[in-house]
Amino acid sequence: MKKGLFIVLEGPDGAGKSTVSEMIAQYLQQKGHEIEFTREPGGTPIGEKIRGIVLDNENTEMAGTTEALLYAASRAQHVSEKIRPILMSGKTLICERFYHSSLVYQGIGRKLGVEKVRSINEFAIEGTYPDLVLFLDIDPAEALSRKKSLDGGDRLEQEHVSFHMDVYNGYKEIIKISPEIKVINASKSKEEVFNSVIEQLERIL
Ligand code: TMP
Repeated sequence: MKKGLFIVLEGPDGAGKSTVSEMIAQYLQQKGHEIEFTREPGGTPIGEKIRGIVLDNENTEMAGTTEALLYAASRAQHVSEKIRPILMSGKTLICERFYHSSLVYQGIGRKLGVEKVRSINEFAIEGTYPDLVLFLDIDPAEALSRKKSLDGGDRLEQEHVSFHMDVYNGYKEIIKISPEIKVINASKSKEEVFNSVIEQLERIL
């Protein structure tokens, strides 16, 4: 039985997941929580090796099913080696991306089907569900330009923009069938984002 809080951040690249992680950490530390951070894919030495395989550009022949199983395998190791022990120790864990990323990227992006991808992930996580999933809602083009200004000007080609748009639309589909996901309007000011995040946090404290 887990004791600590498990908080997951989802959203397009550049939505501000790391900034929101820090906001949550500061708020909860003031309330006496001990905080740990993690992210997917990876999070453990075995998970990092799987990440290397799944993201290797040379693996062009990788089947969508293999990809989904590799993400799920990395997640299974993450849950067993890191997530569950941290939660059992009573600490609060903030994780950037978790199984909803697989539902979106593999279930919708790779067209494997959301329910099939959900079932392999249920096997992988063995009942370790987040207490709170926040989707940072921001127009992907805005998120990319924000990221560019932070990174000092990474140039992204048109296919990258359309890829990010597909992912964003995938998230919107998943949100419709996932009442556990709470949407945060991440295009607002930092203060407004903070207030919305705290409102959601307070519901689970
Ligand atoms: P990252 O850039 O956030 O580190 O993630 C690496 C890529 O992996 C990113 O394109 C999102 C993708 N991804 C999936 O396709 N499925 C998953 O389950 C996760 C966690 C990430």
